[in-house]
Amino acid sequence: MKATVYEGPRSVSVKEVPDARIERPTDVLVKITSTNICGSDLHMYEGRTDFEKGRIFGHENMGEVVAIGDAVDRVRVGDLVCLPFNISCGFCRNCEKGLTAYCLTTPDNPKMAGAAYGFADMGPYDGGQAELLRVPYGDHNCLVLPEEAWEKQTDYVMLSDIFPTGWHCTELAKVQPGDTVAIYGAGPVGLMAALSANLKSAAKVMVVDRHPDRLALAEQIGAIPIDDFKGSPIDQINEHTNGLGADRGCECVGYQAHDPGGREHPNLTLNNLVHSVKFTGTIGVVGVFIPQDPGSPDNLYRQGEVAFDYGLFWFKGQSIGNGQANVKAYNRQLCNLIQQGKAKPSWIVSHELPLDRAPDGYQHFDNRDNGWTKVVMHPNGSRPGSV
Ligand SMILES: NC(=O)c1ccc[n+]([C@@H]2O[C@H](COP(=O)([O-])OP(=O)(O)OC[C@H]3O[C@@H](n4cnc5c(N)ncnc54)[C@H](O)[C@@H]3O)[C@@H](O)[C@H]2O)c1
Ligand SMILES: [Zn+2]
Ligand SMILES: [Zn+2]
Repeated sequence: MKATVYEGPRSVSVKEVPDARIERPTDVLVKITSTNICGSDLHMYEGRTDFEKGRIFGHENMGEVVAIGDAVDRVRVGDLVCLPFNISCGFCRNCEKGLTAYCLTTPDNPKMAGAAYGFADMGPYDGGQAELLRVPYGDHNCLVLPEEAWEKQTDYVMLSDIFPTGWHCTELAKVQPGDTVAIYGAGPVGLMAALSANLKSAAKVMVVDRHPDRLALAEQIGAIPIDDFKGSPIDQINEHTNGLGADRGCECVGYQAHDPGGREHPNLTLNNLVHSVKFTGTIGVVGVFIPQDPGSPDNLYRQGEVAFDYGLFWFKGQSIGNGQANVKAYNRQLCNLIQQGKAKPSWIVSHELPLDRAPDGYQHFDNRDNGWTKVVMHPNGSRPGSV
């Protein structure tokens, strides 16, 4: 099969690799019809993680079931399914509680929790930016999609990660109807947090970034774009909240946060949120932070430490929640919202490409080139999207 392979910093190739196949009786084999490039792939693509050369990228996947193992009861050949990026078992102590991002069965290291397709430090699993994908514990992991999903793949594929992740961020931030919400990052994840805050009837949603195309997408769904190139985002958020700060804050950037000039500061968005959120406000962090980052320009962060404004955070009585999103905790409900026409996450999709163009897609999305807001690839030639 053809697959998107990591060759080293800022280099991917599409090459022939051995076909994915059923390895255990609980596996399902999926022919991938849509697979996205994610901001999480970019941390790996830039060589800022332990991702090993030769591994296959792709954790935002959907496709058609083409084979099932002998122990698969529910999922059928021919089903169109969306796969949570987290690979989980469904029966461990954490999965039982809905914490599928921290599954204790699927990591290959007993000291770890959580696994994902094509991801650094999250198990040996191949990614789905390929023609075929092996899905462990298929009955548990596959979300079987409604018939209309064949024609609306660019909406339904977002259930694999970023729509549930944006939702998770608003859950961590405890967004309630009538709240004011400040979101840092207008990448795909920040935009999905804005969509989720809207769906939860937030009164005012403010989204900070400096890319006009991304801010325009936030504005399209009624959020207030905050351009930090034009002035302090903290001041702008205060102006929109009578000087009090937002009720809730969402971090959707991660450790490669940078100032508008391009200089990286891993603590920038965290500290901006402490300043942008009101006394007793709540903050959700889904932007990725990692335990070591030898390539960081920041001395502290090479050991995974950030200079967090803890004094002010404590003084304001704020609280924070963070981590990977438990996609399975939300994907069925969010699927219903898409099916009922109440959510259309495909509004952020800028490009649909064949798999062969993965190197191009990575390069432009990594540069945050104007107009490259979300890339969906179709490895098996179909281009059924609704964009
Ligand atoms: N927790 C999870 O389960 C989960 C899932 C998916 C993605 N992620 C992470 O979420 C983060 C965002 O993903 P994405 O796909 O949207 O990525 P992205 O890189 O496309 O978007 C990040 C955006 O943040 C902006 N930004 C950078 N510095 C900023 C700053 N100081 N203030 C405001 N905006 C700033 C960039 O301009 C960019 O538009 C990444 O760290 C990704 O790894 C986490
Ligand atoms: Zn992702
Ligand atoms: Zn588990």
